[in-house]
Amino acid sequence: MQPITRMLWLAGFFAITTAQVTNSSSSNAMVNYAQYVNPLIGSEGPIPGQAFGGGDIFVGGAVPFGVVKLGIDTYETNLSLATINGGYTPQGLVTGVSMMHESGTGGPPKYGIVHQMPLTTIQSPVNILDNTTYWQRRVTETARVGHYSTNLENGISISLSAARHSGILQYNFPPGEAYILVDVSHYLPALGFGQYTSQTFLGGQIELQQGGKQYTGYGQYGGGFGECAPMRVYFCGEFEHVPTQAQTWTARNTDPYQRQHVFSNEPYGMPIFGNTTQESGFLLDRVGAVFSWANSSSATTVISKVGISFISAEKACMFKDSEIPSWNINDTVQATVSEWNQDVFSKIQVPTDSSQNETNLILLYSSLYFMHLMPSDRTGENPLWASDEPSFDDIYTAWDIFRCTVTLYQLLQPDYYEGMIRSLIDIWRHEGYMPDGRSGNYNGLTQGGSNADNILADAYVRGVRGGINWTAGWVAMVKDAEVVPYNTFSPLDMTGSVKEGRGALYDWIPLGFLTQNRSARSLSRSVEYAANDFALYQVALGESPEQAQKYLNRSAQWQNNWSHNVTSVNTTPIFTGFLAPRLSDGAFNLSGYNPALCGECEWDSISYEGTPFEYSFAVPHDLETLIDFMGGAAGFEQRLDYIFQPNTSQQNLGANGAGITTIMNIGNEPDFATPYLYNYLGKQHKSVQRSRALANQYFHNANYGVPGNSDAGALNSWLVWQMLGLYPIVTQPIFLLESPWFNDINMTINNNATLRITAHNLDNANSYYVQSVRFNGQPWTQNWFEHSDIMISGGTIEFSMGSNQTQWETGPVPPSPGHAGIPNPIGTYSMAETIGLKRLKRRDLGF
Ligand SMILES: *[C@@H]1O[C@H](CO)[C@@H](O)[C@H](O)[C@H]1NC(C)=O
Ligand SMILES: *[C@@H]1O[C@H](CO)[C@@H](O)[C@H](O)[C@H]1NC(C)=O
Ligand SMILES: *[C@@H]1O[C@H](CO)[C@@H](O)[C@H](O)[C@H]1NC(C)=O
Ligand SMILES: *[C@@H]1O[C@H](CO)[C@@H](O)[C@H](O)[C@H]1NC(C)=O
Ligand SMILES: *[C@@H]1O[C@H](CO)[C@@H](O)[C@H](O)[C@H]1NC(C)=O
Ligand SMILES: *[C@@H]1O[C@H](CO)[C@@H](O)[C@H](O)[C@H]1NC(C)=O
Ligand SMILES: *[C@@H]1O[C@H](CO)[C@@H](O)[C@H](O)[C@H]1NC(C)=O
Ligand SMILES: *[C@@H]1O[C@H](CO)[C@@H](O)[C@H](O)[C@H]1NC(C)=O
Ligand SMILES: *[C@@H]1O[C@H](CO)[C@@H](O)[C@H](O)[C@H]1NC(C)=O
Ligand SMILES: *[C@@H]1O[C@H](CO)[C@@H](O)[C@H](O)[C@H]1NC(C)=O
Ligand SMILES: *[C@@H]1O[C@H](CO)[C@@H](O)[C@H](O)[C@H]1NC(C)=O
Ligand SMILES: *[C@@H]1O[C@H](CO)[C@@H](O)[C@H](O)[C@H]1NC(C)=O
Repeated sequence: MQPITRMLWLAGFFAITTAQVTNSSSSNAMVNYAQYVNPLIGSEGPIPGQAFGGGDIFVGGAVPFGVVKLGIDTYETNLSLATINGGYTPQGLVTGVSMMHESGTGGPPKYGIVHQMPLTTIQSPVNILDNTTYWQRRVTETARVGHYSTNLENGISISLSAARHSGILQYNFPPGEAYILVDVSHYLPALGFGQYTSQTFLGGQIELQQGGKQYTGYGQYGGGFGECAPMRVYFCGEFEHVPTQAQTWTARNTDPYQRQHVFSNEPYGMPIFGNTTQESGFLLDRVGAVFSWANSSSATTVISKVGISFISAEKACMFKDSEIPSWNINDTVQATVSEWNQDVFSKIQVPTDSSQNETNLILLYSSLYFMHLMPSDRTGENPLWASDEPSFDDIYTAWDIFRCTVTLYQLLQPDYYEGMIRSLIDIWRHEGYMPDGRSGNYNGLTQGGSNADNILADAYVRGVRGGINWTAGWVAMVKDAEVVPYNTFSPLDMTGSVKEGRGALYDWIPLGFLTQNRSARSLSRSVEYAANDFALYQVALGESPEQAQKYLNRSAQWQNNWSHNVTSVNTTPIFTGFLAPRLSDGAFNLSGYNPALCGECEWDSISYEGTPFEYSFAVPHDLETLIDFMGGAAGFEQRLDYIFQPNTSQQNLGANGAGITTIMNIGNEPDFATPYLYNYLGKQHKSVQRSRALANQYFHNANYGVPGNSDAGALNSWLVWQMLGLYPIVTQPIFLLESPWFNDINMTINNNATLRITAHNLDNANSYYVQSVRFNGQPWTQNWFEHSDIMISGGTIEFSMGSNQTQWETGPVPPSPGHAGIPNPIGTYSMAETIGLKRLKRRDLGF
């Protein structure tokens, strides 16, 4: 279990980024796959030392889908480059260690809460209210599965590990004084974002027990990316030894919160120390505590355990005691590593002997690691309603993970996965809508369609039943499809709700398309709403057959946002036919329109995190029509070829650009399936060529190892499929066959079945094109297969590889089950007013 160690230097900066893997010292029969995980992949962007433009990943201690993600929080002094979403940044100043984080998210940060910070002094110039007076640079650090440690410039070292709802921290202090600061008002600020999107501290309480050996309390926080309501987190901390002194403190809050009581435009002041209990009161004062140990002439070790709960402080104490019985941090590290090996890594076994390419082992197991950090399994920890259903949070977001991540959860983690689906449905039952994003126990934000529909349909068509109430699941999907959610009037998008549901149904239902003049992101949401309606069609076939045709028809409405006349601009050759902006009177608005541009690809743009050129490929349910619209097989192939050519992108991709100059952008989810579309032309070898080229160019065993935000592991899951040589088509029970990176793969699927994938004559440098395939021992001539063929009871796929690009497949191309003719006649604006806007007042739409 060789750690991955980085040396940070104060002025300069150099890092050892390569994992040096040695044999496991464990005598377990099970291979210690955790040794191949590099937990820093994605920790850095294109500018060395900066997280900016990188994966925004969490680095620290966590179990699979853990509630606690325990790691350092940092502050970046150059705000123009600041991204602290995961808490960790390569060179940021440490402001504390905290229990809750997201991993891979963009936008303004969420969490960084339930805090401790070790200090050598609390005397001036240190002011415990002002982290800039005590923050610390790091000198060295080590990160591996279940364990993180760092040495601070002031001589203190921090070592940590985590269990499901709790964590353990070991601090080694140099000779002298030793303090632990607990700041309940600590959270990750929205550096570089507006105050509107920032989190806020909304009061708390802290109480000392047993002379300060234990402390309990809660903090309340709101805001962040999801524009979240307040939530309360209870905590229970304990120290191995009773401190010499323990005091609570309080102070007025001076952060510039809107709609909250604060002491405006005033300096921090000084803390007021108290005895055993402090409460924020109605003014939402900051609260915390300081613990200290005897001034010692030798080094002091302080060990602390902290539990958290959304229900009560007692439960937080219970988690702390039951999950972390020992004061030896190594015991927690070992338990955490075992859980990862057993529940995650061993589900995909590949040869690990010395003849294997170690980089590929690291990429595989690290990718599995990152896609299992979120969502968080909060079962039994839902404070909002009483329910026996499982409870998941940090679905951040469905927009990212519906495309290929959830299908992998379904195969590898059937129990967690069923829980996620049941949780989505339970949220609908108690809050009215399933979430697209959810964090901090709150729905939001919805970037495109209502993509929980796709997650449910993917489970449904692949046969997931278990304890899921599909009657309820269907009703929840119909709510998404039929009821315009209240407009949230978010500054991000005033045209409709960004909280949940489909904010532009007022266009989609009566008009049959989305209008540029009334709905932001009209083109990206058009194809997503169509995919959502296809998801309803798929579930309707089983749950409500009489409604199936209606949703199949609606799934074709993307065609109403397609202009057959519009041509590409500044391309050679010129392509004709794209998604195009349309006005509420039915006319296309093509003047000055260039499908390769999106403005900023932002909330108020014509398309979101992708250009219309890219979204024009994103109709997974009806490639047959799409190929026809693009001029048939030859035209489709020519256009696909074009988007992989360097220097074709006309859009400035900004921070997420990752140096990508092609229209094809693997750094954002809408394009995930695009490289595989050659399968629909019977040219699988070109899918292999394109997708392998993307993987090799943009995914590395390096801190800058993913092309942009990892998006809760969505990017990592794309790479896992790539390495398996498979790709799932979401909401259809099929997989495409590609080209595996290992000559032998045993996957444990569906709890206890085994799928074995072998690749004869594989050489990842020279011999990776499929020459032939055998499926459960029989010759196989299609470049795709059905879920039930092999993903329920297991089976074998045997690839024969070679260096020739062979058109080996002779069977039918993958299906287009959403193939439907011309959709419903297009309505007009006046129809929209009478039919679609029943629930909305016209003035609320702001036009
Ligand atoms: C790893 O294990 C093999 C077989 O037990 C042994 O030959 C080899 O020396 C070990 N390598 C290291 C680095 O310990
Ligand atoms: C902050 O980052 C920006 C963007 O890279 C750079 O131009 C600027 O020089 C940096 N400022 C400092 C003080 O380093
Ligand atoms: C630390 O101090 C900075 C500068 O005052 C402030 O913006 C930030 O919110 C504070 N807290 C953290 C956790 O960074
Ligand atoms: C702390 O406790 C002492 C002794 O009980 C008492 O005299 C003092 O007023 C208390 N201080 C505060 C701030 O409550
Ligand atoms: C701690 O001890 C050192 C030397 O032993 C001394 O210089 C320092 O003043 C002491 N600090 C306190 C708070 O007593
Ligand atoms: C924990 O393990 C490390 C090596 O993995 C060892 O150096 C250290 O002494 C162990 N600590 C305890 C308390 O057992
Ligand atoms: C896969 O399973 C087969 C059958 O048990 C076994 O022979 C083979 O060694 C396994 N391969 C790997 C990579 O574990
Ligand atoms: C291992 O694979 C990586 C790409 O995944 C490649 O860059 C590297 O050259 C390979 N190493 C060897 C020794 O073949
Ligand atoms: C399933 O959900 C439906 C719709 O909410 C409800 O009427 C029914 O009672 C539920 N069935 C079970 C077994 O809970
Ligand atoms: C597109 O071309 C067709 C056929 O030439 C024509 O009927 C239609 O009006 C054109 N649409 C636009 C938006 O120019
Ligand atoms: C596999 O698991 C299922 C339940 O998930 C169980 O019914 C079945 O008996 C198991 N099969 C084997 C071979 O263990
Ligand atoms: C690969 O294709 C070339 C050209 O078609 C042919 O000459 C060669 O024999 C093929 N190689 C193999 C291994 O099939």
